[in-house]
Amino acid sequence: MSKKILIIGGSPRKNGNTATVTGWVAEGAKAEGASVNIVDAARLKYKTAGCCSCYGCQVSQQFRCVILDEATDVVASFPEYDVVVFASPVYFFGLSAQIKMVIDRMFSLFKFSNGKTIHNLQKVNFALIATCGGDLDDSGVKLVDETIKEIVHFIGKTHKSLLIPSLVPTAGETANKEDVKEKAMDFGKKLAKW
Ligand SMILES: Cc1cc2nc3c(=O)[nH]c(=O)nc-3n(C[C@H](O)[C@H](O)[C@H](O)COP(=O)(O)O)c2cc1C
Repeated sequence: MSKKILIIGGSPRKNGNTATVTGWVAEGAKAEGASVNIVDAARLKYKTAGCCSCYGCQVSQQFRCVILDEATDVVASFPEYDVVVFASPVYFFGLSAQIKMVIDRMFSLFKFSNGKTIHNLQKVNFALIATCGGDLDDSGVKLVDETIKEIVHFIGKTHKSLLIPSLVPTAGETANKEDVKEKAMDFGKKLAKW
């Protein structure tokens, strides 16, 4: 059966490096028959900047944030996908603020009580696309990968990642990088077969 993939785009730049690489990943996944939905986290309308720690989701029986804005349905839909991909530029050695706004709202997909953690993400696989200006060792991209690894480990799974270093800010130049395109499309194909 064809895989359903959700990509959360976490760059403030609509046509920047992360969007370019994400587009190739989507192209690769579609070529293998997957359906791909890309959500632009930077352009969702939020009522709260990230999680406001109201703990309303812990009182509610639903796996859904009680703050109703454009992030609510996106996050609540994660269990409907085979693969959820976080796509982020490396900003100051970490994830972008824009993707973190969505990730923190994932609190609503967990119930924490009596030392137990319950969630509804058993069927979902998670992946990371990260782009950065520095190289693999000095850019912070490994820290970003480690962060996603820990989140996914907390869910009880392992993740796949595509880390693209050494990109100049001019997205036009990135668009001409055939080696990056090939790598990204292969990654998309891998996600579609996961
Ligand atoms: C605010 C800001 C912080 C950045 N911090 C880092 C960094 O810590 N490490 C790095 O290698 N590149 C850093 N960069 C470069 C970006 O990660 C890189 O250009 C990335 O591909 C941009 O993706 P985008 O076009 O999707 O925004 C930073 C860029 C900006 C604007």
